[in-house]
Amino acid sequence: MNRERARDDKTPVLWMVVHGVIASAIGIAVGLAIEWFPEQASTQAGPIDDLYDLLIWTSVPVFVTVSIIVLFSVRNFKMRPGEEQLDGPPIHGNTRLEVIWTAIPAVVLVVLCSYAWVVLTDIEEAQAGEMRINVVGQQFAWTFEYPQAGAKPIKSTRLYLPVDQPVRFYVKALDVIHDFWVPAFRMKVDAVPGIETKYRITPNRLGSYPVVCAELCGLGHSVMRAQTRVVTEAEFDKWIAEQKAPAAATADGEIDGKALFTDGNGAATACGACHTLADAGTQSSTGPELDKVLAGKDAQYISQGITAPGAAISAGFQAGIMPKNYGDSLSAEELEALVKYLGEVAGK
Ligand code: CUA
Repeated sequence: MNRERARDDKTPVLWMVVHGVIASAIGIAVGLAIEWFPEQASTQAGPIDDLYDLLIWTSVPVFVTVSIIVLFSVRNFKMRPGEEQLDGPPIHGNTRLEVIWTAIPAVVLVVLCSYAWVVLTDIEEAQAGEMRINVVGQQFAWTFEYPQAGAKPIKSTRLYLPVDQPVRFYVKALDVIHDFWVPAFRMKVDAVPGIETKYRITPNRLGSYPVVCAELCGLGHSVMRAQTRVVTEAEFDKWIAEQKAPAAATADGEIDGKALFTDGNGAATACGACHTLADAGTQSSTGPELDKVLAGKDAQYISQGITAPGAAISAGFQAGIMPKNYGDSLSAEELEALVKYLGEVAGK
């Protein structure tokens, strides 16, 4: 019964140190081996991932140290049978221990914060020749605006970026708080109604990357996604030129309702991102399948579905997910072309 408490030789300390070092080494190796993030697609991503690695190097040994001391204490200092009525030893504290366990975490925190501050200052530095892009968040869609000298900004539901071109995003929200995040770029910022938030990135890798809303913003939060396309400068210039052309005009000068449907083509719609429509080849199930719900409907019904989406909600779908401002963002001609297109192809 009267087992010796923490034998006063050095054995337990040595045991703790050896096991602590082994556990830390395994923890750090596993932490560094796991791919926590998607590919790096901006010049900001490298320094942020290095900072994250340093945090793994530091936090794993801290976690292991605390865990081992807790386990050791539970095993060696617990109450044993027959000691129920005994008072504990009269300890008032240990100044030396308290100084040590306050000073070490303080030094670790100051060093980590300083390094993080240096990284943040470095990656947020202004770059020469920055391109401005306005990012607008609303329930539940992103719109990207490219300001044009002496003209209306080009609007898109896809974020096109020329590779190696420094960009500064000016982020706004129309209704509630959203958060503009492209994981491959690593940076994110809240989109807050009433104020403008900003951040910089320089995309340095061609490809498509998801834009994600990272703030719980309502029923459609999980579908508030968009695509980033990092393209060559020539492709970007070509895309901008296409957006400047009148919205989705076909050869005979009519507005192309199908192009409006599939990728918005400058008009900040992209119905196909959320709706399935056989004729357009789109397959998302975020919103109702238009071949079913619009088949045989008249133009007025279709038009109302676009401009006042709360009026008739299909079974199994939630009201309030579809943006409510298409009545404003589409011109009368664009709306007409879209309604005409949907009336012609839905359910066919
Ligand atoms: Cu917008 Cu979540």
